[in-house]
Amino acid sequence: MRRPNILLTGTPGVGKTTLGKELAARVGATYVNVGDLAKEGELYEGFDEEYECPILDEDRVIDELEDKMNEGGVIVDYHGCDFFPERWFHIVFVLRTENSFLYDRLENRGYKGKKLQDNIQCEIFQTIYEEAMSSYKEEIVHQLPSNTPEDLERNLDQIIQWIEQWMKDNN
Ligand SMILES: Nc1ncnc2c1ncn2[C@@H]1O[C@H](COP(=O)(O)OP(=O)(O)OP(=O)(O)O)[C@@H](O)[C@H]1O
Ligand SMILES: [Mg+2]
Repeated sequence: MRRPNILLTGTPGVGKTTLGKELAARVGATYVNVGDLAKEGELYEGFDEEYECPILDEDRVIDELEDKMNEGGVIVDYHGCDFFPERWFHIVFVLRTENSFLYDRLENRGYKGKKLQDNIQCEIFQTIYEEAMSSYKEEIVHQLPSNTPEDLERNLDQIIQWIEQWMKDNN
């Protein structure tokens, strides 16, 4: 049985992990959080002094995931999307959150100053949406509103419907 691979991307705090874990649980897919994977395997190549965070070793992340992606049925969660092989994903969802909601979520996490401003600006400038549109075929890139619990439920329903249709069409 072939199953699709799904990429969930967007600015930090838009709700990728919340959606991804729930989706994986409901459809029995494999959930991969690239940030956690990198941390566990120390898949880093240096340290970014400006942002005070380790720099992802993209090649090692790709090597680590390749076999799993070829099997299908994987939901990948990451706040960037331009370094994954394009062939991995059957659909890409960019979660979008209005400023006021995102601001509160990031502040609740303890983000402040430049880190808070940079992330808010990333969302205002649709940085990740544009990254997705230039990294994948435009017709497989979809934006999803992610402001409220109702949005979350609607997104889950829509993605589950899409998966069911994909499996009918491809098996
Ligand atoms: N649709 C939603 N409505 C209301 N709150 C939400 C929604 N989705 C997520 N949240 C809340 O927003 C916060 C951030 O969500 P989450 O951790 O899933 O974001 P993320 O995109 O995975 O962030 P990061 O990229 O930093 O890992 C959490 O407190 C979560 O409960
Ligand atoms: Mg997350």
